[in-house]
Amino acid sequence: MSPRLVRYFPVIDSTNQAALHWLAAADGAPDRALIIADEQTSGRGRSGRTWFALAGTSVLITLILHPSRAALPRITMLGALALLETVRAYGAADAGIKWANDVQIGGRKVCGVLPEAAWQGDQLLGVALGIGLNVNVDFAGSPLDSTATSLQAAAGRPLDRLEVLQHMLERLDHWLERIDDAALFETWRGALNMIGRPVSAGGISGTAEAVEADGALIVRTADGVRHRVIAGDIGVGYEEKRG
Ligand code: BTN
Repeated sequence: MSPRLVRYFPVIDSTNQAALHWLAAADGAPDRALIIADEQTSGRGRSGRTWFALAGTSVLITLILHPSRAALPRITMLGALALLETVRAYGAADAGIKWANDVQIGGRKVCGVLPEAAWQGDQLLGVALGIGLNVNVDFAGSPLDSTATSLQAAAGRPLDRLEVLQHMLERLDHWLERIDDAALFETWRGALNMIGRPVSAGGISGTAEAVEADGALIVRTADGVRHRVIAGDIGVGYEEKRG
């Protein structure tokens, strides 16, 4: 596999934002280019939330991808799966994926994945796959203790973030090479930890029954009706209007 272009920033507003600008620049950004930051001042989370991580504690990256349009729904699966495998490799055998792309250890979130697409009119410029992994973070005593965890808690020791990043990139590359294989969807589906359980997703509360190949979640409500909830989390990160 060819070497990738890497841009490292000790401090940046958001690696996703930088990736979207890079994609929209005149000479664009090549596939698998990577932006890494030690700290973000405006880290972006899903649904307009902020992603906060203290300097020196986390792996904060954005991987730039040029998938086909058909493969767009699988970018979310790919990110979650690569992170799940990374987390398991560090001792979190009970880690799972909460639909669609939260990686959890013992029901607590260890990693966030935010894919954002850049468009110019109806032309897809690329995708910024943002990943924030809590590595050496101690949530004990903090308000987040019941909902968030870190890799060091699973490993039982502080970890070398560069080594974790290398492992993560190896798993991301593994699944990128298989983005059109049925194995990607099947493996992601097999790792979901909420099938058969009560969920609230997309404003629907019921039992998570299944997922479909495009990533949609099927939720059965108490009246027996099956609802199809779209992940919809390849948000539009950048859109350039023409004319
Ligand atoms: C979530 O809300 O679960 C997704 C969080 C994604 C955070 C990462 S940190 C690196 C990258 N740059 C950002 O601004 N956000 C993503």
